[in-house]
Amino acid sequence: MKVAISTGGGDAPGLNAVIRAAVLSALHRGFEVFGIRRGFGGLLEDEEVVPLGREDVRGITHLGGTILGTTNRGNPFKWPVRNPDGSWSEVDRSDELIERFRGLGLDALIMVGGDGSLRIAYELWCKGLPVVGVPKTIDNDVGGTVITFGYDTAVTTATEAIDKVHSTAESHERVMVVEVMGRYAGWIALNAGLAGSADVILIPEIPYDIQRVCDKIREREAEGRHFSIVVVAEGAVPKGGGPTVKEAAGAGRMERLGGVGEVVARQIAELTGKETRSLVLGHLQRGGSPTTFDRLLGLRFGAAAVRAVAEGKFGHMIALDPPEITSVPLADALAEYKRVPLDSDSVLTARELGICLGD
Ligand code: F6P
Repeated sequence: MKVAISTGGGDAPGLNAVIRAAVLSALHRGFEVFGIRRGFGGLLEDEEVVPLGREDVRGITHLGGTILGTTNRGNPFKWPVRNPDGSWSEVDRSDELIERFRGLGLDALIMVGGDGSLRIAYELWCKGLPVVGVPKTIDNDVGGTVITFGYDTAVTTATEAIDKVHSTAESHERVMVVEVMGRYAGWIALNAGLAGSADVILIPEIPYDIQRVCDKIREREAEGRHFSIVVVAEGAVPKGGGPTVKEAAGAGRMERLGGVGEVVARQIAELTGKETRSLVLGHLQRGGSPTTFDRLLGLRFGAAAVRAVAEGKFGHMIALDPPEITSVPLADALAEYKRVPLDSDSVLTARELGICLGD
């Protein structure tokens, strides 16, 4: 059995743990393993499909990033091609990809990715490619699994940043607005905000009213609390409005969000007269060494993916259904984004602690 592994989309701490576990488990079964470099770039552009052995995955569990490289412009169904005039077009190279995969004598593909890459995995499986998906995203918005690796590290990084911002906010009696990642789901903002004792948390699931946010800041002011911490998910939206877009979608890639923290900070300063600063944590949340939780989840997911390959469970995605690692049909996992349920105990806890959620 020849098994290929590919990492696609934005990176997440824990990817290398998945690769290590998948490679060692595959070798343990007598399978050969190959890594496709740069998402599908290694198959479609540079023919960089490299054999992976024990030596290649030594000492990588604790490392952030992915030894295989990745890209979020690697959709074979919408492959970006540069035109002679410098503009970009998209072409469908999925048949070519399948042909090359078969030409290399590969029998199975383990595709580690977020929602976008798992959709590609599903479409490739529909076209006959034997694929097993492994969910990855710091945003934790993939359905079918209670949690994805990378998320715990991102929340930990965001919480540490909020802790640090607290002391400077208090000394200067300022409002500090911290923008964290989370395109469609506010898991990072909600849980880092809760753990870091934020006063206001704005998530995409609850459109915010800036007046409510300012009421909370004024209320604190009246109580003698002259500083406030506001945590905003990059995908947070004002009531009746849309997300703050930094760059429109282009060939082979989604629109880039970002900047809502600065927008919120400006409005708070104008409406309350409080000195306000904003910062964007951005890709800090995607980097660094994975937490113990993410290492373990990555290792368990990687080993489970090889088990699924051995059992012929193609078209499935590995998932955590505590305490078990299971697998679910990719179609079911992709049926909807996993967003923060408004009646979840974390949302209730935030409200009961007096945290303003912008509504
Ligand atoms: O999906 C994870 C994510 O971190 C999103 O929260 C964010 O919008 C996106 O990746 C940023 O991706 P890029 O690396 O293209 O800036």
